[in-house]
Amino acid sequence: MSTVIRNGTIVTADLSYEADVRIEGDIIVEIGKNLSGDEVLDATGCYVMPGGIDPHTHLEMPFMGTYSADDFESGTRAGLAGGTTMVVDFCLPNPDQSLMEALQMWDNKTGKASTDYSFHMAITWWGEQVFEEMAQVVDRGITSFKHFMAYKGALMVNDDEMFASFQRCAALGALPLVHAENGDVVAAMTEKLLAEGNNGPEGHAFSRPPEVEGEATNRAIMLADMAGVPLYVVHVSCEQSHEAIRRARQKGMRVYGEPLIQHLTLDESEYFNPDWDHAARRVMSPPFRNKAHQDSLWAGLQAGSLSCVATDHCAFTTAQKRTGIGNFAKIPNGTGGLEDRLPVLWTAGVNSGRLTPNEFVAVTSTNIAKILNLYPKKGAVMVGADADLVVWDPKRKKTISAGSQQSVIDYNVFEGFEVTGLPRFVLSRGRVSVTENEVRAEPGHGRFVAREAKNPVNRALSQWKEIVAPRKVERSGIPVSGV
Ligand code: URP
Ligand code: ZN
Ligand code: ZN
Ligand code: ZN
Repeated sequence: MSTVIRNGTIVTADLSYEADVRIEGDIIVEIGKNLSGDEVLDATGCYVMPGGIDPHTHLEMPFMGTYSADDFESGTRAGLAGGTTMVVDFCLPNPDQSLMEALQMWDNKTGKASTDYSFHMAITWWGEQVFEEMAQVVDRGITSFKHFMAYKGALMVNDDEMFASFQRCAALGALPLVHAENGDVVAAMTEKLLAEGNNGPEGHAFSRPPEVEGEATNRAIMLADMAGVPLYVVHVSCEQSHEAIRRARQKGMRVYGEPLIQHLTLDESEYFNPDWDHAARRVMSPPFRNKAHQDSLWAGLQAGSLSCVATDHCAFTTAQKRTGIGNFAKIPNGTGGLEDRLPVLWTAGVNSGRLTPNEFVAVTSTNIAKILNLYPKKGAVMVGADADLVVWDPKRKKTISAGSQQSVIDYNVFEGFEVTGLPRFVLSRGRVSVTENEVRAEPGHGRFVAREAKNPVNRALSQWKEIVAPRKVERSGIPVSGV
C-alpha cells in the first residue's frame, strides 16, 4: 500500500520545488514527477513540508500542586490538528528521585500518543547517583538535560549543581538546556510584591522582569563555556536574553535560543486585563513582554540568532488557575499552544513578510531536528526520512476558538486570532492523521524516538576549556615568609 502526495510544492528549509512524494509504510520512498500510488492526496495549491516538531512540551506533568491538563493523547492530537508531528517532552524527576525511575513514569504516560515523541531529562537535584544515571539516560536515547534556574524550593538547581551537570553533559556528548530566570531574585521580588498587597496575576509579571532572564542567560552561557559544552536556552522572551545569545554566537559558541509562539504574538497588556481569569490564564514563566521585546525575537528568527519556535505547551484549566486567587505565586505557570503554533507563526510570520516559507520550516522543524539529532529521520522531506508531513494550504482560514480545539482546557490564549494558513493533510509516519474535515489521530501510533549523543553540534566551539586546563607551574626561588 503506497500513498502519493500529488501536485504540491515541496518546501524544505533550503528549497522550494514542485514534485510528488510517494510513501510506503512509515517512510518516504520516492520524490519525483507524476508518481502514482494506491491512495492519492491532492496537494494542488499547497506546500508539502516536514511536520512540525515541538521541542518543548509538558504533558500530564505534576507541577505546582496539580497536573498539566493535556496528556499525551490530547496533546499529540492537538499537535496533529495544527501540523505538529512530533513533541519532545520533559521528564521531571522529583528531588532525590532516580532519573531512571522518573523515566519509567514518563514512559508509562505515552501509551496513547498519536505522534512520535522524545524526551529531555530534567536535572532537578545533584549527587553521585545523578552523575552515574546520566550515562544510562543517554544510553536510552535521551541526550539533552534541562536545568531550571528558577522555581526556587522546587525544581531549581544552584550554580554549582548546574556547572557540575554541564561538565557531565560535555563528557557524555549531551546538550544542556536551561530555563533561564534568576530564581533567587524572583523569589525575593515575589515576597515583596505579596507583602505590599500586589497579589493579582500582574504581580507575576512584575516579579520576573527581563533583567532576571538576561542575567540568568548570561550566567548559563558563561558556565557552559567554562564546561566546554553547547547550550540551548528555552523560552527566550526578551531582548536581554536574546542579546546574550547573539553575543555568544558571535564569539563562536554554540548557543541556541528558542522563542515561543506566545511571546512572539502576545504581550504584557494581557496581565492588566480587568478579568482575573483572563490574566491568570496567561500566567507563564517567563511572562509575556512588551512590543520592543517581541520585535527583538522576530529579528532573531530572521537573522538566525534564534533557532527554533516552540510552545512550552503546559495547559491548565481555569479551575486549576483559580487556585492562585489571592496569591499570584500559586497560579500554575503555563499556557497551551500545540495546535496553534504553526498557523499563528505562518500568519504572523510568513503572511506578514517577516519569514520566508523555508525559514518557517527551519524554525518549526528542521533546525530543531538538527540540534536534537533527529535529522534527517525527522525534519526533512527526503527519500528515507519518516513520512511525518504536512500538506499546508496557505489560503485556508479559521478563527481560533476554544470551542473547536483539541486541547482539553476550557479557553485558548489565542482566542479570536484569525489565521490564514492551515493543514489540508497531516501524515504521522505515513498515516493520514488529519484531513480538512477531520482529525483521525490513532492513539498508540506514536513511538519513542531515541537520539544518539554523537551529534556534532554537541561539541563546543569555544576553546576556553583547553586554554585554561589546569597545569602546575614549577617555580624556583620562592621567598620564605617571615625573614
Ligand atoms: O510557565 C511555564 N513555562 N510553565 C511550564 C514549565 C516551564 O517553566 O517551562
Ligand atoms: Zn521553563
Ligand atoms: Zn517548559
Ligand atoms: Zn499506527
